[in-house]
Amino acid sequence: MKILLASILVIPLLAQGQKPQAATSAEPAKPAPEEGIPVTSQLVISKCGACHTKDEKGNMLRISWERATPEGWEEAIKRMVRLRGVSLTPDEARSILKYLATYHGLAPEEAKPVMYYAEHRILDETNIPTDNVRGACTNCHPMARPLSWRRSPEDWKYLANLHIALYPQADEAFRLGISAGGFDEDRHHQEPGAPLPVDEALAFFGKTAPLKTPDWAAWRARMRAPKLTGRWIVSASLPGRGKFYGDMEVAATSGTDDEFTTRVKLTSVKDGSTISRTGHSLVYAGYAWRGRSKGTPAANAAPDDLASETREVMWISPDQSMAEGRWFWGEYQEFGFDVKLQRPSADPTLLGADRSLLKTGSQGTRVRLIAQSLPAQIAPADLDFGTGVTVRRIVSHTPTEIVAEVDVAADAVPGKRDIAFGRSVLQSAMAVYDRVDYIKVTPDSALAHLGSEKHPKGYQQFEAVAYQRGADGKVHTADDVELGPIDVNWSVEEFYSVYGDDDKEFVGSLSNAGLFTPASDGPNPQRKFSRNNYGDVWVVATAKDEKDKDGRPLIGKSYLVVTVPTYIKWDQPEVGQ
Ligand code: HEC
Ligand code: HEC
Repeated sequence: MKILLASILVIPLLAQGQKPQAATSAEPAKPAPEEGIPVTSQLVISKCGACHTKDEKGNMLRISWERATPEGWEEAIKRMVRLRGVSLTPDEARSILKYLATYHGLAPEEAKPVMYYAEHRILDETNIPTDNVRGACTNCHPMARPLSWRRSPEDWKYLANLHIALYPQADEAFRLGISAGGFDEDRHHQEPGAPLPVDEALAFFGKTAPLKTPDWAAWRARMRAPKLTGRWIVSASLPGRGKFYGDMEVAATSGTDDEFTTRVKLTSVKDGSTISRTGHSLVYAGYAWRGRSKGTPAANAAPDDLASETREVMWISPDQSMAEGRWFWGEYQEFGFDVKLQRPSADPTLLGADRSLLKTGSQGTRVRLIAQSLPAQIAPADLDFGTGVTVRRIVSHTPTEIVAEVDVAADAVPGKRDIAFGRSVLQSAMAVYDRVDYIKVTPDSALAHLGSEKHPKGYQQFEAVAYQRGADGKVHTADDVELGPIDVNWSVEEFYSVYGDDDKEFVGSLSNAGLFTPASDGPNPQRKFSRNNYGDVWVVATAKDEKDKDGRPLIGKSYLVVTVPTYIKWDQPEVGQ
């Protein structure tokens, strides 16, 4: 294979996992066709330069032809320590990571589309261009892993070679493009000379994720120290728990311009309870927030305790006026707040509402609006809920909250409405509906892990979201209106895959707030054949108050697989402090 030949010098050394030899070059000596990014850090030069030799322009082999997210660099550095015997103190590793993630980083616009990876969100990736690329590159890790990197075309090739040397199934995936659907016989009989799936993938990355981009050139010029100290307004939501609002106070860590300590106070819109958290964080490349924070968890805290220690991954907007991301925790990062930070404004600003739906013909419904910098006087006319909704009176108000009573006309057109106060607008914040047509349980398919003392459990929180059929009068079409979460009763039903299935009795339990707690790992003597407690079930939501058009209960379902713990974990990059 031609790609193998390109770095034949590197492979044997690696494949045998031998100890490093200082004289080993990280790449065969041959002129690079593309200008690299010169390395100016003395620490990087002294720690990495023995193998990654430097040319007269200051370009270091490999390193100068690569850019990546902080997680990407963290992984690369860890591998150098693990496989190449590089020794670094924690402080050195941290400085090198900071330097590379900043000067060989991604522009904010490049990082945004792969934030879900650092945020540990589970989603169906829509960034895979073809089945061949899917088969070559997404069997072992998400597409976001390569898309967290920018490399020269040459360097993408070296990466593929390394995969073949290190990971047993890579060669097969690269040649055959095996996809989750199974093995494709046709591909086995490739036309001689036809491009292999890996060639297609490398051409794709060379074009889509090149070393030099206009976004990066612009960001290199524009990047500045993050000026984040002071107060931020936090809006957060947590599946199953609703919305939270509050403040975050950010202070600089002395002697640095990219490290901070934080103090957060959040209030639940649902029940008024408060959470206080303190933490610290580091900002890479002027916008990549990686931190940790925690409250004071109770001694025997529940796994979804809101005081749990969380990791914080956020994307700060280039103008430093806004940040958004996820604060997550759990063995499988399965719990997490979706968070948005904005700077306080002296002008009245709406932040959110305590409900997301209003029924046609309803009278005197109370809506609580969370806001900031509200004036001393507020009249019904200051608020606008859109056509067909009348603000009857203002029940109460403070500088940060308005409670209003609203009437909805019986003939109001169903659909989303903005809520406005003066110039501040909450877009599509309220849905007017005549009836709920169906409910969906999210996630619509889910995975939970049994656990033991050694391997903590993997939980799953469910939520039921209501929908209205939309203007075309048909359900499950593009114009359906999402009405937001509604109150439901939760239950578990058997998913009949095997005759006499009894998984429901063993896999675990579902709380009345939709939190699934898996059972313990290990053989269960109470079960036929002492099977482990794994299995698959339906998680069922039945709406409490709403009925369908024929007056029958509204029901939604999600398919839940409960499996064994992940006994071996791939390295999980950890770039927070
Ligand atoms: C003892 C020799 C040695 C030292 C020291 C060394 N490396 Fe490497 N490095 C290699 C070799 C060999 C390769 C090619 C094979 C591979 O990717 O593991 C490589 C590859 C790399 C790659 C490319 C990996 C990829 O994803 O394709 C990066 C990035 C890298 N090194 C970074 C560093 C950094 C940063 C340091 C200093 C902290 C360092 N290396 C120190 C030997 C070394
Ligand atoms: C057979 C499994 C497998 C396939 C197929 C595979 N990868 Fe990987 N890849 C891995 C593993 C395992 C790692 C993590 C190595 C580690 O954590 O040290 C990895 C890491 C990476 C990284 C991180 C860089 C680094 O040096 O750690 C990139 C980028 C990457 N893969 C790109 C690709 C691309 C592009 C393709 C398709 C051409 C691909 N991978 C196909 C298993 C695979």
